[in-house]
Amino acid sequence: MSVLQIAGGRPLSGIVRVQGAKNSALPIMAAAVLAEGISVIENCPKLSDTDVTIRILRYIGCEVWQDGDCLYIDSSKPIIPEIPDSLMGEMRSSVVFLGAILARAGEARLSTPGGCELGPRPIDLHISALRTLGTEIDDSGGRLVCKTAGLVGGRIDFPNPSVGATENAMLAATRAEGVTVITNAAKEPEIEDLQSFLQKTGALVAGAGTSQIRIRGTGAAHGARHRVIPDRIAACTWLAACASAGGEVKLYDTEPRHYLSVIHSLHEMGCSIEAGEGMVTIKRKDTLRAPRPIITNPYPAFPTDAQPPLMAAALKAEGTTVFVENIFENRYRHAEEMKRMGADIKTEGKTAIVCGVRKLKGAVVKAADLRGGAALAVAALGAEGVSEIRGLNHIDRGYESIETALAELGAEVQRI
Ligand code: EPZ
Repeated sequence: MSVLQIAGGRPLSGIVRVQGAKNSALPIMAAAVLAEGISVIENCPKLSDTDVTIRILRYIGCEVWQDGDCLYIDSSKPIIPEIPDSLMGEMRSSVVFLGAILARAGEARLSTPGGCELGPRPIDLHISALRTLGTEIDDSGGRLVCKTAGLVGGRIDFPNPSVGATENAMLAATRAEGVTVITNAAKEPEIEDLQSFLQKTGALVAGAGTSQIRIRGTGAAHGARHRVIPDRIAACTWLAACASAGGEVKLYDTEPRHYLSVIHSLHEMGCSIEAGEGMVTIKRKDTLRAPRPIITNPYPAFPTDAQPPLMAAALKAEGTTVFVENIFENRYRHAEEMKRMGADIKTEGKTAIVCGVRKLKGAVVKAADLRGGAALAVAALGAEGVSEIRGLNHIDRGYESIETALAELGAEVQRI
């Protein structure tokens, strides 16, 4: 099993291109099942999560091939309406296929995705949304057996915003008779990107990015070409790396307006940040200072996925940084590992209290989840000496070659 070896304690200097957004590519790959023809997804990141999604597409009967960062999906043939447990188990976000397969085939069978490293991951909002559109769902015994005599548009009022449930509802509603209105919809940029792809396939969808999305069901959609938006969390990870190690780095192929809340916290910590057309430059010279509390909430508030990397950047910030994690129940597992580097962190339920320390020292640490693993790399860059990060399978789910990106930023890093 390979590990990441990072020699930290030196400022960064370099420039890196930000990869395509994982959390946009995955639902758009599922949406391609509805487009009966060939779709081309440009800027598709090469990740283990996208690899699993390609295997699911092939299993259900799509032809999939790649050319550079373009992914071709031909979903002309009839769809096999089920995902095997083996593939469901590899990636819980495969649940976003539910709405697409159901809308295309009139039925869908898959195992419930179950919890993950971040804690229980219920899908009650997905299920209630699809039932509202006329789906019979048997969710007993760890499997979802869904069928419909024909989806019918309706009103879906989410009690709290859910990215995946909003995506599933959008996908199913494109084939539901009549109009569907989704209220309290998630407003993430990835939802807008999904709408943009759906519109190109001929679907009638509007309102993504606001809390109300309206869809008018249509017949078969056709294939479309779409370029996936840049990955805002990868961008936040590289900015946090510079905040942690110091120096100056530049990101390109990025959309800073997708992560203004994170830029704001980094600025409060003392980083200077310049945002331009598709570019962001960050500089950190002096010792960081603790920002105002970092409280995660649905977009456009501070994103939960950026909490771990920003915690890593805050470990040596003068003062006390308070984190409140409102989205997932178990998203502080990286704290224990950071304490092995000398960090001073206390966690209690949703809250983590980080007291800045003067020095961190390299250590052998283990990733327990995707963003927590990336955060350990960010912390290692600010630690004196060599760190070894295990559990790279978690990090490789969401970052194309994290070692290449960090090396381009001037880090002394290798995968061994
Ligand atoms: C998406 O997960 C992202 N994953 C996550 O990114 C991200 O952290 C999350 O949205 C929040 O922004 C993908 O897009 C593939 P939710 P998702 O449904 O859709 C509760 C990463 O690191 N909920 O918005 O699963 C849920 O428990 C990953 O890239 C229900 O109660 O998140 C959570 O507390 C991690 N019932 C909250 O809603 C449901 O039916 C938000 O979850 C569904 C969700």
